[in-house]
Amino acid sequence: MTAHPGASAPLPPARAASGAAKLVVPCLIGALVALTLGIYGRLHHPTGIAINIAGFSSPGSVKSWLATGAAVLALVQVGSALVMYGKVPRVTAPSWIGDLHKWSGRIAFLLTVPVAIHCLYALGFQHYSTRVLLHSLFGCAFFGAFTVKMLILPKQGLRGWVLPLVGAVVFALLIAIWLTSAYWFFSTFGIKR
Ligand code: HEM
Repeated sequence: MTAHPGASAPLPPARAASGAAKLVVPCLIGALVALTLGIYGRLHHPTGIAINIAGFSSPGSVKSWLATGAAVLALVQVGSALVMYGKVPRVTAPSWIGDLHKWSGRIAFLLTVPVAIHCLYALGFQHYSTRVLLHSLFGCAFFGAFTVKMLILPKQGLRGWVLPLVGAVVFALLIAIWLTSAYWFFSTFGIKR
C-alpha cells in the first residue's frame, strides 16, 4: 500500500506556517481564474451559437453526456484517491492506482473544457433562475478550484489534509455543476443521445 507523502505526521509550527504561505498564491490565482471567467461570461454578449455532433439530438444533449462522462470519471478520482490514502479497508493499493487517478482526472478535465467554452461563449453567466445562477457560479468556481489543485500538487511541506480537501472541493463543484445542468437536462427532456 502506498501512503501519500506527508499524509500522517504533524508538521512543526514553522513548517506549517510556510505551508500556509504556499497556499496563498495558488488560492489568489484560482480566485482570479474564477472571477475572470465570471466577468467574461457576464460582459460578453452571449452568441447563442449551437454546435451539434452527428448522432446527438441537440447541443444540450452532447454537453450533458460530456458532463456525465466527467462526473463518472470524477467518481473514479475519489475512489482511486481513497485507495491511495489507504482509506478502503482490506484493499491494497495496486501499482497502477496512481496512473488511474492521474488519467481519470486529466480526461475528466478535458471533457469539461469544450462544454464550459460553449456555456461561456454561447450562453454566458446567467441568473434567470436559482438553478442557472448556481450552475454559472459553480462552473466558474470549478475552474478556479481546479487551478488551485494543479498549483499545489507539486508543493512540498503542505499539511496532509490540504490536497484531499482541495480535491474534495473540485469534486463537489463538478457534481454540483452536473446536478444543475446535465441532471436537469435529462430529467426535463429525457435520457437520449
Ligand atoms: C464556466 C462557467 C459556466 C457558465 C457561466 C455556465 C453557464 C451555463 C448556462 C447559462 C446554461 C444554460 C442553463 C439553462 O438555461 O438551463 C448552461 C447549461 C449547461 N452547462 Fe454550463 N456553465 C459553465 C460551466 C459548465 C461546465 C464546467 C459544465 C460541465 C462540466 C457545464 C455543463 C452544462 C450543461 C450540460 C448544460 C445544459 C445544456 C445546455 O443548456 O446547453 N457548464 N451553462
